[in-house]
Amino acid sequence: MNILITGATGYIGRRLKHRLSSEKEGTLRLFMKRDKSSSVKDGIEVCTGNTFDIPSLNAALQGIDVAYYLIHSMESANYRERDRQSAQNFLDACIMQGVKRIVYLGGLGEKQSASEHLLSRIEVGEVLSSRPDAIETLWFRAGVIIGSGSASFEIIRHLVEKLPFMITPKWVNTLCQPSAQNDVIEYLCLAAFLPKTGNTIIDIGSQVLSYKELLLGYANVVGLRRTLIPVPFFTPKLSSYWLTLMTPVPYSIASALIEGLKSEVLIKNDHARTLFPTIIPISYEEAVANAVDEIKHEQVISRWSDASGHAWEVNHNDLANAIFSDRQIIAIAPSEAPDVYQMFCSVGGKRGWFGFDILWRMRGAIDKLVGGYGLSRGRRDPLHLRIGDSVDFWKVVDLQEGKRLLLFAQMKLPGIAWLEFLIQEGHFYQTAYFYPHGLAGRLYWFVLIPLHFFVFKGMANNLIRAVRKGA
Ligand SMILES: NC(=O)c1ccc[n+]([C@@H]2O[C@H](COP(=O)([O-])OP(=O)(O)OC[C@H]3O[C@@H](n4cnc5c(N)ncnc54)[C@H](OP(=O)(O)O)[C@@H]3O)[C@@H](O)[C@H]2O)c1
Repeated sequence: MNILITGATGYIGRRLKHRLSSEKEGTLRLFMKRDKSSSVKDGIEVCTGNTFDIPSLNAALQGIDVAYYLIHSMESANYRERDRQSAQNFLDACIMQGVKRIVYLGGLGEKQSASEHLLSRIEVGEVLSSRPDAIETLWFRAGVIIGSGSASFEIIRHLVEKLPFMITPKWVNTLCQPSAQNDVIEYLCLAAFLPKTGNTIIDIGSQVLSYKELLLGYANVVGLRRTLIPVPFFTPKLSSYWLTLMTPVPYSIASALIEGLKSEVLIKNDHARTLFPTIIPISYEEAVANAVDEIKHEQVISRWSDASGHAWEVNHNDLANAIFSDRQIIAIAPSEAPDVYQMFCSVGGKRGWFGFDILWRMRGAIDKLVGGYGLSRGRRDPLHLRIGDSVDFWKVVDLQEGKRLLLFAQMKLPGIAWLEFLIQEGHFYQTAYFYPHGLAGRLYWFVLIPLHFFVFKGMANNLIRAVRKGA
């Protein structure tokens, strides 16, 4: 059995890779946009490319029996069109390469009442299932996925943890059927080994609950008392702003999710039970307890913000074009270099930004107010980083062991910014780069020069001081 996973840097893809890499049969290949070259790592093949680059798709699908389609490009402006085209390219390439089965995970819900985001997921499923004569497609449909790092779970967690009282709009009464992240991954994994069934839609989920019950269920599991005060309005705009402010998701994701909360998302078939009798979905409370446990023990495999997103795709390579920069250079002894690397790789999250925390928090709050990520994404792991990790409102775009960390700014800015930490020839270099957009970008940089002077200088000095103090 030769298996290909697309979207292997995303929330579901990373977890499926983790699960399938323990399967003994056959080979596992990942199709990713980021890796610089095709290579084999830990027995897993990696092919680079994207679904709009047809030769790369064909190369990745050669000799593959089962191909997972776990791609979406929610952040780009014309994502519906892009996702339809991406799915069509994938289907065509699968047929051309003689792939036997496509496995796709989309969302629960009906076309008539679907949000724009869900509609796009349904369209992708329809495209992938449109050639039953040539290839079999198993189309899984899941609602809210409860697992450490999933967007829905993080929203529930932040709301319940932060707010003893919540004024709750009408959508909290909408019904849904959440799925535990582990169950979803298990269905997807077993789908590769299922006997031939022909095109099938498989709805997955556990008990029927309202969103209100999801909030109170979380509170119950973590031992918090929470009061919900209902109001009889939907307030989609206000709710989206509220979610943006109180949780790590930006406005674009909050509004897409809130739009989807208007209509019920319930299972419409029992194919999951009949085709996968060994999987007994765990309850919502168990799923919450597992997720909380993973966070507590720093075992979060992936997070909703892992995918690079379209903006990063377009901009991350333009470092050389930066017009403004702020560079701090400090001489270090060769013996200090490993600790300096460890120290800058622990930046952000609970540790903060080596001084001026109040200013960073204010910048985070401003970012939230204008619909950005703010600081609330924190870090996946307090010490270790990997390319693609989000660190507060930054994204790791380069990581060279013992040498370099490059962060790409995902905060709302009138330009493009990076922060680089580098160890080279006995020196520690910390450089902030900025590529301004128009006059607003230039003004932004000049107005902030006095603040940057203190913040960046302080950051570099405090970082090295922390190393020397052994902090
Ligand atoms: N997560 C959930 O809670 C949830 C719930 C229900 C259903 N689902 C479904 O599960 C599927 C996967 O979702 P997810 O949350 O794992 O997504 P995600 O975290 O946003 O990841 C998307 C993946 O797609 C890749 N990608 C985007 N455009 C691509 C292209 N043109 N070519 C190749 N790769 C591309 C991204 O690569 P880069 O990182 O390089 O950008 C990333 O690996 C989706 O269909 C979603 O609707 C998810």
